Amino acid sequence: MAEASTKWDANLYLKFADARMRPAMDLMARLDPANAERPGHAIYDLGCGAGNISRILAERFPERPVIGIDSSEDMLAKARSQTVDKRVTFEKGDLAHFRPSTPPSILYSNAAYQWLPGHIEMFPGLLKTLPSGGQLAIQMPRNLEAPSHALMREAAEAGPWRDKLKNVGGVIRVEEPAQYYDRLKPLCADLDIWESIYQQVLTGKDPVAQYTSSTGLRPFLEALSPEEGKAFYECYAGMIAKAYPTRADGITLFPFRRMFIVARRA
Ligand SMILES: C[S@@+](CC[C@H](N)C(=O)[O-])C[C@H]1O[C@@H](n2cnc3c(N)ncnc32)[C@H](O)[C@@H]1O
Repeated sequence: MAEASTKWDANLYLKFADARMRPAMDLMARLDPANAERPGHAIYDLGCGAGNISRILAERFPERPVIGIDSSEDMLAKARSQTVDKRVTFEKGDLAHFRPSTPPSILYSNAAYQWLPGHIEMFPGLLKTLPSGGQLAIQMPRNLEAPSHALMREAAEAGPWRDKLKNVGGVIRVEEPAQYYDRLKPLCADLDIWESIYQQVLTGKDPVAQYTSSTGLRPFLEALSPEEGKAFYECYAGMIAKAYPTRADGITLFPFRRMFIVARRA
């Protein structure tokens, strides 16, 4: 499968910030404040994007530095321009090769690792960088079989763009929760894995297609010229509108499954 693209549009992504904030907060609620008080340790926000969550981590845990890591210049520029707290810093880095420069007591990541092939193999190594009691907290969407994602592939095969989109990768398969459990449990003092399906409330024209065009649909759009991309987007948006109809009150419900992992190092 092709590598995920690094071209993120921070403004389009932030358009849906409210819907995306809730799982980030649900994950954060499971962090142990004691881990945010360990002298000499930092809290990492891996795949920090525009830094919204990094800033909340710093507010919630006022003792320690918060370091956001991301590979996208656009996201990092936005993150730096919106952050005044000197305790929060941002570094460019690829999560596939991440090694903390400061010892971490919390490794937090919201909606990033689903872009990395083989991420399940990275998690034990991340856990080992933590001190005993430190936490690895990860949230990933798990919707590859949902219409929002299945129809990307269907739309990719439904037009003259077919050949150009044949080898386009997208978000990587996020495995069944039990697989993460089996990989991590031997290293953990405790391990909490759960899933939630959020009934996201969207408004406006093509709301689900707009939502995915800032994430899962991007690699498809980037493989096409602007004109082809527009035609492909319209084909996909037409399919999606049938799968997620607008309700009588004008809103569109977009059910979205997310998996959470909170692992405490033994
Ligand atoms: C869906 S956004 C999530 C941003 C942020 N965590 C949030 O919840 O708002 C995914 C982020 O992961 C970053 N990302 C994807 N693959 C990456 C990689 N291999 N290394 C570093 N960052 C990556 C993207 O640049 C993007 O900012």
